[in-house]
Amino acid sequence: MRGAVARVRYNPAAPPAVRHVPMTERDQSTERRSLPARVWRSIFRGPVVPRTDQERKWVVFNTLVLHLRPIRVPASTLKFTHTFGLGGSCLVLFLLLAATGLLMVFVYVPSPERAYDSVVGLEDDVAFGSLVRGVHHWSANLLVVFAGLHMLRVFLTGGFREPRQFNWIVGLSLLLWVLAANFTGYLLPWDQLSYWAITISTAMVTYLPGAGPGLKEVVRGGGEIGAPTLINFYALHTTLLPILFLSFAAWHFWRVRKAKGVVRPRRADGSPVGPEGNVLFLPNLLVREVAMALAVLAGVVLLATLLGAPLGERANPGMSPNPAKSPWFFVGFQELLLHLHPFFAVCVIPLCAAAALALLPYLRSDEDTTGIWFRSARGRRLAAWAAGLGLFLGVGGVLVDELVLTGGHAVDASGAFAARGLVPFGLLVVGLALFARFLRRRRGATRDEVVLAIFLLLAVAFVALTVIGYGFRGEGMALRWP
Ligand code: HEM
Repeated sequence: MRGAVARVRYNPAAPPAVRHVPMTERDQSTERRSLPARVWRSIFRGPVVPRTDQERKWVVFNTLVLHLRPIRVPASTLKFTHTFGLGGSCLVLFLLLAATGLLMVFVYVPSPERAYDSVVGLEDDVAFGSLVRGVHHWSANLLVVFAGLHMLRVFLTGGFREPRQFNWIVGLSLLLWVLAANFTGYLLPWDQLSYWAITISTAMVTYLPGAGPGLKEVVRGGGEIGAPTLINFYALHTTLLPILFLSFAAWHFWRVRKAKGVVRPRRADGSPVGPEGNVLFLPNLLVREVAMALAVLAGVVLLATLLGAPLGERANPGMSPNPAKSPWFFVGFQELLLHLHPFFAVCVIPLCAAAALALLPYLRSDEDTTGIWFRSARGRRLAAWAAGLGLFLGVGGVLVDELVLTGGHAVDASGAFAARGLVPFGLLVVGLALFARFLRRRRGATRDEVVLAIFLLLAVAFVALTVIGYGFRGEGMALRWP
C-alpha cells in the first residue's frame, strides 16, 4: 500500500509542470522511519533546499509566498540599475510598518488625554519600545521617498506605456494611500509638532472654493482638532488605509506579472541591453530581492537606533509653535501658499498636477521609447537642462517674490486674486508652452522628450520649494539659513 502511494505522489516521470518532485533516497527513508520526519514532510512536501533546476521550479510553484512570483524572469531586467529595487523596497517598508504598527497598538491609547503619555511610556518603559517606534517612523518617511523615486524610475524608463498604463494609475493610488497613512499617523503622538502640523494642513482645505469649510470639518471631525479627529485618524491609519494599500499593492504586482514583468531595458538606439532570454526566478531574482530587503531593513534599523523618532512637548492647543509647519511632504504646498493666492496654491495647482499625472500614460507619443532611460541621448541632455532650469526657477522664484515683490508677506484669501493667482499661473502655463515649442522647433525634440523635460522641470521646482519650506524657513516663516 505504501509503495502504491509513493508511486502516485512522486512519479519521476511527472510532466514538466512539476507538481511532484521525485523523492530522493534520503527523503524516502525518513518518511518510512520517524514521526518528526513525517510531520516535517507533511509541511514541506518537496525539497526545502532545491538542488536542481527541476526542484527550483517545484519550490517556486508550490510555496505559499513564492508562488506569487513567476518561475522564470527576463535575464535583462535583473540588473540592479534597471529598477534599483525601489518597488520591492516599498513593499518591504510596508511590511516593517505593519509589523511595528501591530506591536504599538498594544500600548497606544487614541485619546487626547492619554495618547501622549502612552507614547512616552512606549519610549521609556517598554522593552525595545523606542526601537519599534523609530523603525515605524523611518519606514513611513522612507516609504514616501522610495515611492516617489520608484515613480520617477518608472517615468524615466517609460515603464508607464502600453500595456502598463493602468498600472501607473494603480501606482498613483498607492502613492495616495501612502501619503494619507503618513498624514493620519502624524497626529497620533499628540505632541506640539504633530498637533500643529495637522492643524496647519487641515486649515489649507478651507481654501477649496465652496466645499472647503465643510470639508475641513469632515476631515477634523468637528471645528477644531480634538478627540473625534484623533479617533478618526487612528481608525483610518490602522485599518482602512493599510487594507487599501495591501489590496492595491496586490493588484499592482499582479498587473506587473500580467505585463510579463517590468519593461525590458534598451539602449538609446533601441537595441536590447544585457543577456537575452529568461532565467529561473529562484535563485536569480530571489537572492537579489532578499539582499535588497536586508539592506533596507539594516538602513531603517540604523536610522531608528541613531536618530529615533521625534517627540516634542505634549500638544498645547492654546499655544502654536513658531514656525508651525505642515508635515514635510506637504511643505511644498505650504511654501506655495506664501507666494500665491490660496485658491491657486492648494486647489488649482494640486488638481492640475494630479490630472497631468493621471493623463501622462495616455498622451500620444511619436515613437516607442519604452525601456530607454531618458527616452534617447538627446532626452538625457534635455533632462539635465530641464532639471537645472527647475531648480533655478524654484529657488529664483522664491527669492524674487520674497526679496523684491512682496517683502515676504503671504497673501490671504481675500487679497490679490489676479496679481497673486491668475497672472503668475497664466505666466507659468504660457512659459511651459513656449518652452515646449522651443524644444520641438529649435532642439528637434520628440513629443516624449518634451513631456520628459516639462515633468522634470516641475518636479525639481516642487522639490526645491519643499526643501526651502522645510529647511530654510524660521520664525514667522521668514527665510533663514538652516
Ligand atoms: C507605494 C507603493 C508601491 C509599491 C509597493 C510598488 C511596487 C512595484 C514593484 C515591486 C514593481 C516591479 C518592479 C520594480 O521594483 O520597479 C512595480 C512596477 C511598476 N510600478 Fe510600482 N509600486 C508602488 C508605487 C508606484 C507608483 C507611485 C507608481 C506611479 C505612479 C507606480 C507605477 C508602476 C508601474 C507603471 C510599474 C511597471 C513598470 C515597469 O514595468 O518597469 N508604482 N511597482
